[in-house]
Amino acid sequence: MGTSQQPLLNVRNLRVTLRNGLEIVRGVDFVAEAGKVLGIVGESGSGKSIMMRAAMGLSPSLSTVTGSIRLRGEELVGAHERRMQKLRGSKIGLVFQDPMSALNPVITIGKLIAEAVRLHNPDMSAAGVRRRTIELLDLVAVPQPELRANQYVHEFSGGMRQRVMIAMAIANNPEVLIADEPTTALDVTVQAQILEVLKNLQTRFSIGLILITHDLGVVAGTADTVVVMYAGKVMESGAVRDIFYRSRHPYTRGLLSCLPTISGNRSRLEPISGSPPLLSARPVGCPFHPRCSMAQNTCRSEEPKLRQVDDVLTACHFAESLRGVATGQWTSRAEHA
Ligand SMILES: Nc1ncnc2c1ncn2[C@@H]1O[C@H](COP(=O)(O)OP(=O)(O)OP(=O)(O)O)[C@@H](O)[C@H]1O
Ligand code: SF4
Ligand SMILES: [Mg+2]
Repeated sequence: MGTSQQPLLNVRNLRVTLRNGLEIVRGVDFVAEAGKVLGIVGESGSGKSIMMRAAMGLSPSLSTVTGSIRLRGEELVGAHERRMQKLRGSKIGLVFQDPMSALNPVITIGKLIAEAVRLHNPDMSAAGVRRRTIELLDLVAVPQPELRANQYVHEFSGGMRQRVMIAMAIANNPEVLIADEPTTALDVTVQAQILEVLKNLQTRFSIGLILITHDLGVVAGTADTVVVMYAGKVMESGAVRDIFYRSRHPYTRGLLSCLPTISGNRSRLEPISGSPPLLSARPVGCPFHPRCSMAQNTCRSEEPKLRQVDDVLTACHFAESLRGVATGQWTSRAEHA
């Protein structure tokens, strides 16, 4: 068991391998701290969801997980399923992308949240559960919570459903809240509102929030630190300002090129062409080389290691050559809405 001196979530050399030997997650390191927001960013298929599911003991049954994931010092890799069940929903809250498939349509919103409250508080009185349910709806800024608790999922908009998911995830005061693409299905204004709800909760209760997204714009105004993933590996990581303004990786810069700039002009960074490699056809060397305009022969044979270059950790053989090449002046999704 750990102490509060230990990092909230310390992930070291995390690997997720399918039975057929294909490695989906290939040695990932990161730390999530209490009261901070960690953004995990990467295109579709980069392994973000699988990685967090593995961390929470929810990896596909056909895979093995190795490495270390310590929650306040307690090792979660290899932990008993009963222990993981207890941790999920108590110390760790999970919010997924698609609230519709996760919320039972035939019971009221109030009952759904009450179930989450009761799961880890079986002795709480009915009145106590009801009080907590209303309080939770209020915390996620659902207007008229007493009234709305009696409604059903179909009576809630996409944004309101996502608030319900968040209310359920924080029902038992988790220390870590993992939100996997919580705003992807929502329009840009509602996205900003949901990010604000998450950010408010994280600050108020000093939660360690892990925000998983394919959109760097989502983490711009929200995260403290950012991990950029590609093909199951970390390409770059660092403080949010360093990633946005002093990135030393062509992949991060390609993701940045998709963001709106403060001047409203198109970014001068080069956008990424093509698509990420299939799991079964990952290129030798740097996994990004077929799409990278800076690629040289070394990139096609040697996989770069993550190393410190200036203010960031980066996995690029030619990171130094990006020194002095400005990225841009970005606006966050929240500001843009
Ligand atoms: N249950 C599974 N069994 C086998 N392979 C899987 C499974 N789930 C995902 N994969 C593969 O693992 C890789 C990473 O998937 P993952 O869902 O983690 O990506 P992601 O970064 O979360 O993408 P997205 O942005 O689309 O959510 C993909 O190549 C995917 O096809
Ligand atoms: S190692 Fe080479 S291919 Fe990979 S990102 Fe750097 S320059 Fe591009
Ligand atoms: Mg995903």
